[in-house]
Formats: sequence, C-alpha cells, structure tokens
Amino acid sequence: MKISIVLATALFYASVAEAFKTKTPPLSTKWTKEAAEADVPWPSYPRPQLQRQDWVNLNGVWEFQNSTKGALTDMPFGKTLSDEIKVPYCMESGLSGVMKHYDYSVYKKSFTVPSDWKDQSVLVNFQAVDNEATVFVNGKKVGYNKGGYNRFQVDITDALKNGKNELMVHVFDPTDSNGNNPPLGKQRSQPSHIFYTPCSGIWQSVFLEPVPKQYISRLDVLTDMHGNMNVTAISNKATAAQVVMVEVLDKHNKTLISKAGHANKSFMIKVPGVKTWSPDQPNLYNYKVTMGKDVVNSYTGFRTISRGVVDGVERPLLNGEFIFQFGTLDQGFWPDGIHSPPTEEAMIYDIQFLKKLGFNMLRKHIKVEPDLFYAAADRLGIMLWQDMPAMVEYKAPTDDQQAEFERELATMIDNHKSFTSIVTWIIYNEGWGQLPSGPETYLTPRVKSQDPSRLVNSVTGWNDHGAGDFHDNHHYSIPQCGSPFYSIASTPYDKKRIGVQGEFGGIGQNTSAAHLWPVAEAVNSINQTYEITENNDAYNYRTLQVLEQLREQVERYSCSGAVYTQTTDVEGEVNGLLTYDRKVIRTDVPKWQKMIKDIYKAAKSRA
Ligand SMILES: *[C@@H]1O[C@H](CO)[C@@H](O)[C@H](O)[C@H]1NC(C)=O
Ligand SMILES: *[C@@H]1O[C@H](CO)[C@@H](O)[C@H](O)[C@H]1NC(C)=O
Ligand SMILES: *[C@@H]1O[C@H](CO)[C@@H](O)[C@H](O)[C@H]1NC(C)=O
Ligand SMILES: *[C@@H]1O[C@H](CO)[C@@H](O)[C@H](O)[C@H]1NC(C)=O
Ligand SMILES: *[C@@H]1O[C@H](CO)[C@@H](O)[C@H](O)[C@H]1NC(C)=O
Ligand SMILES: *[C@@H]1O[C@H](CO)[C@@H](O)[C@H](O)[C@H]1NC(C)=O
Repeated sequence: MKISIVLATALFYASVAEAFKTKTPPLSTKWTKEAAEADVPWPSYPRPQLQRQDWVNLNGVWEFQNSTKGALTDMPFGKTLSDEIKVPYCMESGLSGVMKHYDYSVYKKSFTVPSDWKDQSVLVNFQAVDNEATVFVNGKKVGYNKGGYNRFQVDITDALKNGKNELMVHVFDPTDSNGNNPPLGKQRSQPSHIFYTPCSGIWQSVFLEPVPKQYISRLDVLTDMHGNMNVTAISNKATAAQVVMVEVLDKHNKTLISKAGHANKSFMIKVPGVKTWSPDQPNLYNYKVTMGKDVVNSYTGFRTISRGVVDGVERPLLNGEFIFQFGTLDQGFWPDGIHSPPTEEAMIYDIQFLKKLGFNMLRKHIKVEPDLFYAAADRLGIMLWQDMPAMVEYKAPTDDQQAEFERELATMIDNHKSFTSIVTWIIYNEGWGQLPSGPETYLTPRVKSQDPSRLVNSVTGWNDHGAGDFHDNHHYSIPQCGSPFYSIASTPYDKKRIGVQGEFGGIGQNTSAAHLWPVAEAVNSINQTYEITENNDAYNYRTLQVLEQLREQVERYSCSGAVYTQTTDVEGEVNGLLTYDRKVIRTDVPKWQKMIKDIYKAAKSRA
C-alpha cells in the first residue's frame, strides 16, 4: 500500500512539474490571476450574432514553437512542438506563457470530434489570428487567412479521421519590421510612447462546430427605428431558391413575426410596435434563422442613424434626434493580454466604467475587438465609432499595401455591420498611412454603398479633403470643436458637415511605479505627455477645466460630438481615466458625472 502511495505522489509531482505556466506580465490587472488559472479561457460562445447549439471551445494550452518561412513546406506534422502557449492570448503577452515575439511560429492542438456530430460537416472558426495564418488538419492544408483583425472559418470535414486529429497553424506576423506595413493600429516592433507592444498569433477564440452540408456562412442584418429589418443569410452552397425562414422573438422567446425569403437575397421584415435601441434604452430582439437543416440564433436592435440640419447646424441623428455623442479614445490594450482582454468580464468593466461616468459613446481606436465586445456594447448601450486599424504613420504605403488596406477595410465592415451599437466608420486617423492624394475621396462612397445605414468619418484629424459626413478636428489639450478658431494641421470648421472633436484632452498624471508599465522605453517617454499634473487634485482641476471649455463650445458653436483621450493608460501613456492595470480611477467620479450631464444639457439648449 505504502509503495503505491509513494508512486502516485511521484507521478503527481511529475505532472505538476510539466504543467503549463503563464508568465508574470510586467503589470497585472484585477483579472490576470483568473485568466492565468483558467483551463479554458474565454468560455462564452464567441460569435453572438450567429450562434449554433453545438460547439467545442479549443481555447486553452496548445503546443507551440518558433518557426521559419520555409517550414510552410516542411511542417512538423505528428511531432511534439518544443513549447506551449495559452490560446487566445497574443504570444507577446504574459498570459500566453511565451511573452516573446516570433515572426514565424507554429501552433498545434489535438482534438477529437464528438461522436454525435457524425454525418455533419465540421468547421474550425478562428475569431482572429494576427497576421497570416495557414491552417492544416492531419497534414493537409485546409485554409489560409491574411489580416489580423477578422474572423474566418475553414471546413475541415474532408481532412478529419476517427479518433485523434491534429490541427496545426503556421503564423507569419512581422508587425512593421523589414518594410512590412499591414493594417496594424498601434502595434510596433519598436514600441515607444504612443505606440505599443505588438500582438502576434492567435489572439481570439478558436472553436469547432458541426453544420449540415448546406449551412448559413454569414448573416447580415440592417435595421431602422420603424422596426424594419433587412436580413441576408448567405449560404455556403449554390442551391437554387433555397428557402430561409426568419422568426423574430419577444422577451419570452415567443414568435413576434416570421417571414420566409431566399438564401443570399436580402429580404425585409417589419416588426410591429418595436422598441427602439438607444444608449439609454438598449432594447434588443432575438431572432432565429432556419435554412434547411441549419438553425442559428442571433439578435439585433432597431435604430436609425442619419444626419440632418437642426436649428441651422449639421447634426448626427439617432432615431431622428440630435444626441451629443461624447466618448473616450479607447485603445483596448491590456498589460497582461496586450490585444486580448484577460477575460470577457475585464473587457465589460471598461464599458461599464464609461457608462457610469455618463459617456454615451466610445471611439474604438485603430483596433478591432472580439465580437463579444460589440455584443456587450449593444446590450449595455454605448454608441461606437469604429476605426479602421491604420498602417504605419512614418511612410506611405506601396500599391500592394494600399490594396490590402482597402480589402481589410471592406472585410471589417462586412464582419461588423450587423452590430447595433456601431454608428460611425472611421477610415483614416491623423494622416497615418493616408496617401497624400486622399484615397478617402473614393473610399468614402465605397463604404457608404457597402453599408448605407451609417455615417462615415473619412478622416479624423489632419489631412481633410472634404470627404464624408464629418469635419473632425484634433487638438490637445483644449478642444476646438465646430468652432470659428483652429490651429496648425487642422482647417476651419466646414459648415456643410458635422463638426466633431475626434481627440482632445490627454492630460496626464504620472502614477506610482506600482501601476506603471515598467519597461524603460515606456517610462522614458512619459515626459512626452502633452501636460503632466503633479497630483490627483491637479489632474481633476485641469481635466474639468478642459471639459468646461468643451461645454462652452457645445453651447456657442457647432460641436456635435467629442472624444476625450483616453479610457486607460497604455504603456508609456499616463493620460487614462484609469491606470493601465485598471486599479486606480483618476477621475473624480461625481464631478465628472455632473460635467458630462452639463455638456449634454448645453447641446440640448443649443439645438
Ligand atoms: C526563431 O528562429 C529563427 C530562425 O531559426 C531565429 O533566427 C530566431 O533567432 C529565433 N527567435 C527566437 C526569439 O528564438
Ligand atoms: C432594406 O432594403 C430596401 C431595398 O433595398 C431599402 O430600400 C431599405 O432602406 C432597407 N432598409 C433597411 C432598414 O436597411
Ligand atoms: C451565396 O453566396 C455564396 C458566397 O458568395 C456562394 O458561394 C453561394 O453559392 C451562394 N448561394 C446561393 C444559394 O446562391
Ligand atoms: C431565449 O433564447 C436564447 C437563445 O437560445 C436563450 O439564450 C435565452 O435564455 C432564451 N430566453 C428565454 C427567456 O427563454
Ligand atoms: C525625456 O526623458 C528621456 C529619458 O530620461 C530623455 O532622454 C529625453 O531627452 C527627455 N525628453 C524630453 C522632451 O525632455
Ligand atoms: C514617472 O514615474 C516613474 C516611476 O515612479 C519614474 O521612474 C519616472 O521618472 C517618472 N517620469 C516623469 C516624467 O515624471
């Protein structure tokens, strides 16, 4: 008896010694521990607007190793890889357990297909892999995707075998090294001040799902405030006149209305007595779509986004009414996960904090989030300005890079146009990656024809050529919003468009070392902050003064929306309403709440 106990203990320790460990990130959040301890991080169904009953989450520990370009034709099939990584965290993050960048890498996961999925096709879904991913199953190449911010799915049915299957992904992500210039937002190979640590590899959820031979591969819905919804269910297969049935449900999942249409063809449904969506009343409706044997669940909200002249001023309208749009510049970076929020709850915390202060909008800044972020914004009620991730600011793109930017812009809009909370698309930020010829003049009509239901902010800050719905000024620290004064790099307010302040604020306060990103190049760049306040009193005195200037401009001039920089500190930036670890709230919450209310009041009185 004794011997077997000793043996069992020895085995136990052996397995513990080999167990995967996350690395301690340079700075931890309130959620780092929970994420590090989760066997399957991000357990929620990852695709809220196209849900199927059956699925297998492939998040968790995968095998991993550094690789080469050449490995693409000599993949280590059937071999054990040298390291491990926790999916879905960027390889540069502590939570991934790697905390290093590799231009080339290989990921491997073994899986078995549940026996009750027999006779169905099997898809593997990647919600995002930065930047190029080549997918193999059991040694057979099954798919490829380029673009670090979009979801893609691969039908792996023909490559499957009974028992254990091997999923392998070869990743290439050079960030901006060696002349590469993909849409990459704030990621830099050499991070400093306003540019941050890059994110490479699988950074969002991976999952398997069974589908019938003919299935819904995409679901698009556009809605308005009158209860109209246009639904398009895209089928993977061409079958003449395939019927699609849509049932819109009430709160108790009872059918409100149902209507039949055809695959790939938009058809209109009118939901009677609909309750509209707004930040204050974020009403949503579930609906169910049936196409042959495929049944999926989704949801939508009903609202109309438009523009119009109110008392002589061009305004953005939500459900026909001018609502001043006030938000923050929201980077969506995390000290423990980089691009990957540590948990879903962490990501939701940021939105709830902004809601609590009274913001009704956020500008998702040159980054794209997991679909669950947009679903949370829809549910909690916050309008989104969605930026296209920029190419680098320090050189012009080549023709090929420009073409890839345009392709990924169209993909981003396709992937997100069914989310209720997105009210505005942004093409360019401050001239970054924007050719001097002004490609937004032809991209704006292209975006509008792809999605006629939203406004387009063609250029937020700097090189304006007159395109789009907005005249958007950036100025730090004080705003110059829809006003008859302006400064270098901006232009006088153009009364034919909506006047907004796409960025202002940025007032900093150096925080104690315990809440700073303790990386030399970041700490050494804190002295580049527009304005530093020595203590929390001074921070609130100055920020509220800047907000008061905004309030006055809203009252006097033609200011319809503004974006305060920014939600949180990030690496070398110490200008957040929250520190990077989300542990310190800089803002005097009651004073900010009152000021934000006063800004909305000023907008009402002016309109
Ligand atoms: C990864 O492998 C490449 C090619 O063998 C090598 O040049 C590079 O130094 C390796 N990177 C790291 C961080 O080990
Ligand atoms: C639905 O499509 C019709 C026809 O293309 C169009 O006239 C209408 O504006 C659309 N409605 C919505 C809510 O997108
Ligand atoms: C629907 O469109 C998809 C993608 O363009 C295409 O592959 C499929 O054949 C089409 N299906 C039908 C029923 O027309
Ligand atoms: C309605 O259906 C959805 C999707 O299947 C489910 O998540 C939700 O719990 C249901 N609600 C009620 C009230 O039954
Ligand atoms: C900021 O600090 C760094 C590191 O201490 C120093 O090299 C740099 O000159 C300073 N820059 C400014 C603008 O003061
Ligand atoms: C900010 O604080 C850190 C940590 O206390 C310190 O090392 C750094 O020099 C400070 N920088 C500035 C510009 O105050």
